[in-house]
Amino acid sequence: MAPESSMSAPRTWPAIAVDALPEVDETITALPWPARRRLAEAWIGRARGELGASAIFSHLVGGLLQRGSDPELVWLASKAVSDELRHTEICRHLASAYAGEPVAWPECPPVSAPAYGRASPRFTTTLHVVHSCCLSETIGAAYLQGCLAPATGALVRAGLRALLRDEINHARIGWGYLGDPRFDAEERRELARALPLLLEHVRTRWRTRPPGWTDPVEGHGCMMRARTREVVDEAIVTLVLPGLDHVGVDTADARRYLQRLGVRVDEPAEPGAS
Ligand SMILES: [Fe+2]
Ligand SMILES: [Fe+2]
Repeated sequence: MAPESSMSAPRTWPAIAVDALPEVDETITALPWPARRRLAEAWIGRARGELGASAIFSHLVGGLLQRGSDPELVWLASKAVSDELRHTEICRHLASAYAGEPVAWPECPPVSAPAYGRASPRFTTTLHVVHSCCLSETIGAAYLQGCLAPATGALVRAGLRALLRDEINHARIGWGYLGDPRFDAEERRELARALPLLLEHVRTRWRTRPPGWTDPVEGHGCMMRARTREVVDEAIVTLVLPGLDHVGVDTADARRYLQRLGVRVDEPAEPGAS
C-alpha cells in the first residue's frame, strides 16, 4: 500500500487550512462532468504551482538571511513558505470539489536555487525578491482579483479570497525590500538595467500554457488565456512600474522594452519632473 502522504494531504490539514471553506457549492454540482474534470485539472495545476512557490520562498528566506535583511521581511518571507503550502491545500480542496472525489496532493515542481547570470550573491537576492514578489506576486494578486470578479460560487469565492489575501502580503515583501535603505543606489541602477529581462521572463511564464491546454469554463477561478495576457500587462503598467518608480528605480528601460512589444505604457518621466 502506498504511504498516505503520497495519496492525500496530511490528516491535520482540514483543521488548519480549509475549515473555513464551504463544503457545498451548487455552482459546481450544476456543471456538466467534462467541465468539472477540466476545472479539477486546472485547480490541481494551480496547487502544484503553489507548492513550487513555497520552494521559491524557502530559497528566498536563505538569501534574505545571508544579506542581513530587515528581520520583519525575513519573517514575512518565512511565513510565505507556509502560506504557499496552505494555498496548495486550498487548491487541492477546490480540485477535489470539482473532481467529485479527493485529489492527490501534488508533487512539487523542480525549483532550483536562484541564478541570474553573473550577479553577485547579494544582488542575486535582490533580483530574486523583485522577480518573485514585486513582479510575480503582484501580478498573481491582480490575476486572482480578475478571477474573483465573475465567480459566484461560495466555495470558489472563499478559496480565491484566501489566496488573494496572502498574495498581496507576499508582494509587499518585495516593496518593503526595495524601500529599505540597505537597497542602495548602485543596486537601484543595476536593477533598472535588469528589468527588461525580468519582465520578459515573467510575461513569458504567464503567457505559456501546457501542451493541449484548453481554457476552462469562466467563473470558476480560472481566467481565459486572452484576458490573462491583458491582466498581466495591466498589472505591470499600473502596479509594478509605478511601484518601482515610487522606490526610486529608473523604469525607462523597462518602459521602452514594453513599448517595443506593443504594450501601452507611458513614456518614462523626464528626470527631475514631478
Ligand atoms: Fe500562493
Ligand atoms: Fe504567494
